[in-house]
Amino acid sequence: MAGGIAEVVARAGMRAILRARSEASAATAVKQVTSGLARQVDKGKLDAAERDRILANITTATDLGALGACDIIIESVVEDLATKQQLFRDLDAVATPRAILATNTSTLPVVEMAKVVRQPERVCGIHFFNPAQVLPLVEIVRPITASDDTINRSVTFVKAIGKDGVNVLDRAGFIVNALLFPYLNNAIRMLEDGTASMEDIDTAMKGGCNFPMGPFALLDLVGLDTSLSILDTLHASFGDENFAPRPMLRKLVAEGRLGRKTKAGFYVY
Ligand SMILES: NC(=O)c1ccc[n+]([C@@H]2O[C@H](COP(=O)([O-])OP(=O)(O)OC[C@H]3O[C@@H](n4cnc5c(N)ncnc54)[C@H](O)[C@@H]3O)[C@@H](O)[C@H]2O)c1
Repeated sequence: MAGGIAEVVARAGMRAILRARSEASAATAVKQVTSGLARQVDKGKLDAAERDRILANITTATDLGALGACDIIIESVVEDLATKQQLFRDLDAVATPRAILATNTSTLPVVEMAKVVRQPERVCGIHFFNPAQVLPLVEIVRPITASDDTINRSVTFVKAIGKDGVNVLDRAGFIVNALLFPYLNNAIRMLEDGTASMEDIDTAMKGGCNFPMGPFALLDLVGLDTSLSILDTLHASFGDENFAPRPMLRKLVAEGRLGRKTKAGFYVY
């Protein structure tokens, strides 16, 4: 997600610093952006000068201190609360006091990240959808601790990067994932029950509901580890059985089949 978000920001003419723990992972993210843009140039959807302009707006860093002058810092690391909280503590130490500290979390309580920093009012959710460079929606998530200024500036930022922002309170799953994941989880239940094959369920939901992809292709795109974490959080928050992650999902994650990113999930790539 991080590379996609950096591309969106860079396209809008703003400077993006893509920070990763190692030069190698930063380079991998930039390589993904570069090859995505190259495909668009090949198809005639983007001219080479524009591609160069976008890439020139993206720099990389490993040191968190490089983010010291940023107006907005968007955290997009693994969906694990303890990891994100530690990162927010570290960001708090380096970020300029005016910076917004945002999280791209899919379901974790944003307030839990706000409460570990010295100015919780500057923390909110800026939640992109995958792929960030393609999907227009961004959810702007308001924890109880956020100031109006933080939310207003986030709304302005989301508009400036050309996305359609929606405002939502800090409830697990926000709008989209709270509605989407019971459906995805029930598709796995249907497969476990033997009601239909994975391919036929995907074909049915594409052809019958005009969805661009079926539930198993979407789970693989989101990542099965991320999906499991989202369902665990939703289940813990709402207690609804529709959110209880299906055994097949847990099994695939335990086997390291995490979806497209590991070249195998429900499907093999
Ligand atoms: N995959 C999706 O469809 C999707 C959509 C919207 C939001 N998100 C959210 O975006 C975030 C990232 O998801 P992803 O799909 O890109 O996951 P991913 O597993 O592809 O990438 C996570 C990255 O975080 C890195 N990481 C882990 N700990 C770190 C740390 N302490 N500092 C820096 N980097 C660290 C990992 O090395 C990995 O490269 C999650 O919070 C997820 O819920 C994901």
